Formats: sequence, C-alpha cells, structure tokens
Amino acid sequence: MAAKKAKLPKGAIQPRAAVLQMAPYSPPTAGRSGKLRLDFNENTVGCSPRVIAAIRDRVEAGMLAVYPEYGAAKHAIARYFRVKPEQFVFTNGTDEAIQVFINTYIDDGQEVVVLKPAYAMYRFYAEMAGAKIKEVPYPQPGMEFPLEALLEAITPRTRAVLLANPNSPTGTGISLLGIERILHRARQAAVLVDEAYYEFCGVTALTEIERVPNLFVCRTFSKVFGMAAMRLGCLFSHEANIEFLHKAQSPYSVNALAVEAALAAVEDTGYVEGYVAEVLAARELLCVGLERMGIAFVPSSANFVLGHFGARAVEVRDALREQAILVRDRSYEAPGCVRITVGTREQTRRLVTALEEIWTR
Ligand SMILES: Cc1ncc(COP(=O)(O)O)c(C=O)c1O
Repeated sequence: MAAKKAKLPKGAIQPRAAVLQMAPYSPPTAGRSGKLRLDFNENTVGCSPRVIAAIRDRVEAGMLAVYPEYGAAKHAIARYFRVKPEQFVFTNGTDEAIQVFINTYIDDGQEVVVLKPAYAMYRFYAEMAGAKIKEVPYPQPGMEFPLEALLEAITPRTRAVLLANPNSPTGTGISLLGIERILHRARQAAVLVDEAYYEFCGVTALTEIERVPNLFVCRTFSKVFGMAAMRLGCLFSHEANIEFLHKAQSPYSVNALAVEAALAAVEDTGYVEGYVAEVLAARELLCVGLERMGIAFVPSSANFVLGHFGARAVEVRDALREQAILVRDRSYEAPGCVRITVGTREQTRRLVTALEEIWTR
C-alpha cells in the first residue's frame, strides 16, 4: 500500500525540482516470505551452499571491524569474468553501477536514451541527474528489440544509451551484431549494456570492452547466483574509463560479506550451470502450458516470461497470490502483461496447475 504523503511542515526545505517531479519507485517486496516467488526474477532455490558455508566459516569480528579491502577479491572475480582487475569496479548491485555510470557521464539537461518498457532504475538515475530522457518503445505485442528505431533515436546530442540484454520485462534480447551497430552509431556517447540475465542467453558484449572505448557492461550476483540480498554487481569497461568511475563512487559502497560470498559463488560454477539448465527446461514447460491455455506470450531469452493476460492481468495476479504464488503485473508499462519468473520444473508445474484452474474459471 502507498504510504500517506506527509504535509511539509512550515520552514521545511524543498527538494530539488528533479526529485519533486519524479514518480516514486517502490517495488512490492513486502510479505514475500514463504510464498513461491515468481515475481522478481530471482534464483528461486537460493545460492550455492558453498556461499553459506563461506559466510559461516570466514566471518569473524576482526573482519567486520575494518573497512572492506577489495584487492585480492578483484583478482579472483576478474579471472571468473575473464577480464583484468583494472577493467571493472565492484558496485552495490547493478543499481549502483547504473548510478555511477550516470554520475560519471551525465550533466543536468543532457540527453539519455532508454527503451520502454525497461528496468526502472535507468530512468530513475537519469531523472535524478536532471537528464533529458528519450524513450524508444518496444513494439507491442511482439516486443522484439527495436534496433532500427533505437539507431534512429541516437543523434549527436545523445550523451548516453542504457539497455538490458536480455531486457526485463520483455525477456527479448539483441545480437552482438546489433550491439555493435548501436555502439558505432552512438560513438560519441557512453553505452551501458546491462547483462543481469546473461547466463540464460549467452550473448555478451563483455568481450568487447578492450576494443570499444564507449562500451560499459554490468553484471549482477542478484539473479542466477541467488544473492540479491547481498547487493553485489560489477561494472566493466576499458581501464581508462574505470579510473573515472572510481572517482565518482564511494570507496566502500560494497560490503565485505558480499565480496566473501561472491568469491565462494564463482568457485561453484557447476551450481550455476545446473540452475541455468533447470530454468531452461522449466521455461519450456511454462511456454507449453501457456500455449495450451491459449495465453499469448513473448518468446524469452531470460529466466522469466511475459504473458499477455489482457483485461484479466490483475485478477490472475491476485488469484495466484491467494495460492501463495507471486507474479508481477506489468500493465502500467505493458498493458495486460504479467511477468512470470521461471524457477525449477517442479515450481513451474505448480504454477501452471494453479494458472489453469484460474484461467478456466
Ligand atoms: C535488467 C535488470 N538489471 C538489473 C536488475 C537489478 O540488479 P541488482 O539487484 O544487481 O541491482 C534487475 C532486477 O530486476 C533487472 O531486471
């Protein structure tokens, strides 16, 4: 429920105009415990047991008493992503990666190009910076990546482009060739490719950071690694850009527990591979189920599927919630659409059974 707006007391200070004008962003994260969480594209079974063991074994008072030190961890994480330690910064989730990217490159009034619908925090941080936002819509109902429209929207005035590959909530992706075209067209701008769901699609621009100086890529430990509560991400670019990103970032924004957890997570590659295989099999089950029910959906390259439920979107979400299954209504940005996270096959069967019963009522 939205909090009641408090009246500003006499003498209170007005916030900046950009803040006054922004719509609040408050995702429904309350009351989710104990339910089947198919609403935030998280890992639905949790992180590798090795992560929990590492936190239990390695954390002691001395470690918590000191400010975090990232040097050794940067080498290990760099090896995992096959980059040099100088080619990335740790961030407090992808959200801070977006914030640091914007803070480093965007001045008040400069033009930022984003897609719609897309991850809300691109717009959020761009608005906070006072940027002029240009939105390129995904075509309805297919939601394929609007490459030609995006290329057309990029002009010499464009200062930054932010996109997710694959995108949320659409689930659709773009090829590396398409990204190359964007990077070339926007060569006077900073381009951020958010790869939060990379592991489910396998297309990455990370291999290009050495060669293409206007490219920035971010990855997160919140999704496939099952560590959303830890708040850890990485922002990659050419090492010359990394110096500037460092300057625009607080020196201790990532906590030491998150780094310890990530070190254990990247050692257990088998766990991640197993989870991805399970999700891809379950996604197939979900799509077959939706097709059987006659519910149109957007073909997905990620661990979620956007279904077209039309006028019944909210009713379906609420009825599933009554059965302790959480999904996300996205009608405010994609009319009639509900986004369903894909977890295990067993969880997906439970969802499909419940949905079938609701849909045929
Ligand atoms: C495209 C995209 N990027 C980033 C995030 C959030 O990542 P983090 O938890 O690392 O801030 C999400 C979360 O839903 C997302 O959909």
